[in-house]
Formats: sequence, structure tokens, C-alpha cells
Amino acid sequence: MPLPPLMLTVVDHPLLRRDLTILRDRTTPHGQFRRTVNDAAAILAYEALRDLPLVERSIETPLEETTGYYFQDEFVVVPVLRAGLGLVDGFVRFVPEARVGHVGMERDEATHEPRDYYAKIPPLDERTIVFVVDPMLATGGSADAAISFLKERGATRLRFVCLVAAPEGVRHLEARHPEIDIFAATLDRELDQNAYIRPGLGDAGDRIFGT
Ligand code: PRP
Ligand code: URA
Repeated sequence: MPLPPLMLTVVDHPLLRRDLTILRDRTTPHGQFRRTVNDAAAILAYEALRDLPLVERSIETPLEETTGYYFQDEFVVVPVLRAGLGLVDGFVRFVPEARVGHVGMERDEATHEPRDYYAKIPPLDERTIVFVVDPMLATGGSADAAISFLKERGATRLRFVCLVAAPEGVRHLEARHPEIDIFAATLDRELDQNAYIRPGLGDAGDRIFGT
């Protein structure tokens, strides 16, 4: 039976394609890699924030009264440690008022199962939109675990933002959290036998931090 179409937004912008090329290139040094991850995160944020509701409030310009627009909701950005940290500065460029929580997940190299090792998050309720950010959505295990953790702590409105998604990871998230919107810079071909995304960009955390 054919699989249903994937429910994710692949953000298409020439700047993002150029940035992704820099990130895929194995010769890119980690300083440039880190800066480029942040630039790409800002473009992804631009799209992930596009449909959010605004409320109107009257304001005074230096000359007269007019209508101002404000976001209705509170924003929390949650990077999945460690590699997700690389996306935070770029993501909050447009929403500096966002709070930042942290969830630590590490994939076991043999089983590819996520293990959580750290969490610190602000209070979450139905007025909060939580943007979970991680450069890679591979098997989907880490994203699934982070999202489940946040739901248990009160998050009801979540979006997942990544640079590179694998079809396997998208299917995993759709099966486990079908209400969540996923934003990615690219949907790559497949996972290899080590659960690395192909063509991908390698180990995102190691490349961001130069380890
Ligand atoms: C990477 C990446 C994701 C996870 C994706 O983190 O940043 O969190 O792998 O893989 P999955 O979809 O199969 O779970 P990693 O575990 O390598 O840890 P790191 O961020 O410390 O490098
Ligand atoms: N984690 C990474 O950093 N890269 C991959 O390709 C898969 C998981």
C-alpha cells in the first residue's frame, strides 16, 4: 500500500539552499559551520512564525494614533542538546522575548535509542507555543522523546524545527505526534545502516562544536 504524503513544510529559499550547501560541504570549518547554522535557523524561524496570530492594540506614532500588532502567544524555544544549541541564537533573532528551555538527549551509538540526561524548562501552558529545535531529524527517536517530555510538562502547542529531515524521522513523528507541524530546510533521501542521514551533513553536534 503506498504511504500517505509527508506532512511537513520544507522551507524553500535561495539563502537556505546556499547555507545548506555550506553545511553539507565536508571542508567547511566549524566556525563557519556554526555561523551558518544560526543564519539558517533565522530563516526557518521566519517561516515557522509566519501563521501565528496577532492582536491589535492602539499605539501613538510621533504624529498620531494608529493600530499596532502584537503576538498573542508566549514563545518558548527548546533546543535538543547538544546540537540544538546551535540553532537558538538564529531562531530568537526575530523573537528575542522568547524563553529558552533545554532538553538533553543523546543517541546510543549502537542501538540509536535516545537517552535523556538533562532538562530545564520554563512553565508551559496552553498560551505557550513551544518550538523544539534540533539540526537533525534522523530516526526521530530524540525528537519524539523530547516532545513527549514537554507534553508531560504541560506543552500543548508544539512545532518541530530542523535543518535536515529523513523520511523515517518524519514518519516516526507523524505516527507519534500527528498534530505537530514540522519545518525543515531539506528532506533528504534516507538513513544509512548507522542511522546517519544521507546525503546529510554528518554529525551536526561535532561539526558545530568542533569536537
Ligand atoms: C543528534 C541530533 C539529534 C539526533 C537525531 O544528536 O542532534 O538530536 O542525533 O537522531 P535521531 O532522530 O535518530 O534521534 P546526538 O545524539 O548525536 O547528540 P549531540 O547533539 O550531543 O551530538
Ligand atoms: N545525528 C546527526 O548529527 N547526523 C545524522 O545524520 C543523524 C543523527
